[in-house]
Amino acid sequence: MIRFEERVAVVTGAGVGLGRSYALLLASRGAKVVVNDMGGALNGTGQSSAPAQQVVEEIKAAGGEALANYDDVSSAEGAQNIIVDAIKNFGTIDILVNNAGILRDKSFVKMDLSDYEKVIRVHLLGTVFTAKAAFPIMREKGYGRIVNTASSAGLYGNFGQTNYSAAKMGIIGFMNALKEEGKKYNIRINTVAPIAGTRMGEGIYPDKYMKLLKADLVAPAVAYFCSEECTTTGEIVLAGGGHYAKVQVVESKGIWNDPTEEFTPEMFAEKWGEIANMKGAVTFGNATEELMTVLQHLSG
Ligand code: NAI
Repeated sequence: MIRFEERVAVVTGAGVGLGRSYALLLASRGAKVVVNDMGGALNGTGQSSAPAQQVVEEIKAAGGEALANYDDVSSAEGAQNIIVDAIKNFGTIDILVNNAGILRDKSFVKMDLSDYEKVIRVHLLGTVFTAKAAFPIMREKGYGRIVNTASSAGLYGNFGQTNYSAAKMGIIGFMNALKEEGKKYNIRINTVAPIAGTRMGEGIYPDKYMKLLKADLVAPAVAYFCSEECTTTGEIVLAGGGHYAKVQVVESKGIWNDPTEEFTPEMFAEKWGEIANMKGAVTFGNATEELMTVLQHLSG
C-alpha cells in the first residue's frame, strides 16, 4: 500500500481541479499537505483565499493534516513562501507537485507579448521558483519527489496556445536537466500530462465526456510519482479518462555521412526520407549519452 506518513507535500494550484484531487489523495494516505492556491480566474486575474481554505477544511474533516497557502507561484518570493510555510508548519518538504496553471489562448498574431510572458511565468517559472526553494532541502536530506505538469499541447502542439505549449515543453526540458542533478540525492522528478474535465477543460472537451475525464483518475499516477516506491525519474506520463501512457523523446537511427566529405542541402533533401525513418528509433538517458554515440562513431 502506498502511504505518505511523515511526508510533507506541497501541491500548487490545489484549490480546485486536478490539484485539489492530488491534495486530497496525498492527505488521505497520511501526507501533511500545504494546499497552495491564489484563487484567481482561469486567465490568472483576481485572487481569493476560499478555494485553498475549502480544500484544507475537507482534508481536516476527513481526519487529515493540511495548511492553506495563498501565494503566487509566478513570483520567486511567493514560491519561496510556500516552501517556507511547509517547513515552518510541518518541519520539512519531501514532495512538491507543481500543478498551478492558467490559460491565455490566442492565435500567435493576436497574442500580446504580456500574455506570452504571464503564461511562461506561471507555468515554467512557477515550477522553477518552487523547485529552487525546495531542491536544496531535498538534496540535504537525501530524499525528494517532484512532479511537474506538462500538457499534450506542449508535447504535440495546439492552435492558439503558443505561450502555453512553450511553457509546458520548457517544464520538460527543466525536468530533463534537473533529474541529472537529483539522481545522487534520491530526488526523483517526473512529469504528468493530464486530461481532465476541470474548468480548464470546459469548452475544450465535449460536454458528454467531461464526467469521464475525472481528475481523480489522474491523481493515482501523480501519487505514485510522489511516493517512496517510485523508481523512475525523468519520465513523462499522459493520464486522462482511464488512459495512462508513457511519452518519450526518441531519435531515429538516421544516417552517417563521412564527416570529411562535402554534404550539400540537395544531399540532405535526398536523404531526408531515410533520416526521418523512425524504425529502430532510440532514446537516451541524457545529453552526454547522445553525444557519446556520435563521438564513438567518429572514433570508428
Ligand atoms: P484549474 O484552472 O481547474 O486549476 C488551476 C489552479 O491553479 C486554480 O485553482 C488556480 O487558482 C491556480 N493558480 C493559477 N495560477 C496560480 C498562481 N500563480 N499561483 C498559485 N495558484 C495558481 O486547472 P486544472 O485543469 O486543474 O489544471 C491543473 C494543471 O494541469 C495546470 O498546470 C494545467 O495547465 C494542467 N493541464 C490540465 C489539463 C486539463 O485537461 N485539465 C490538460 C493539460 C494540462
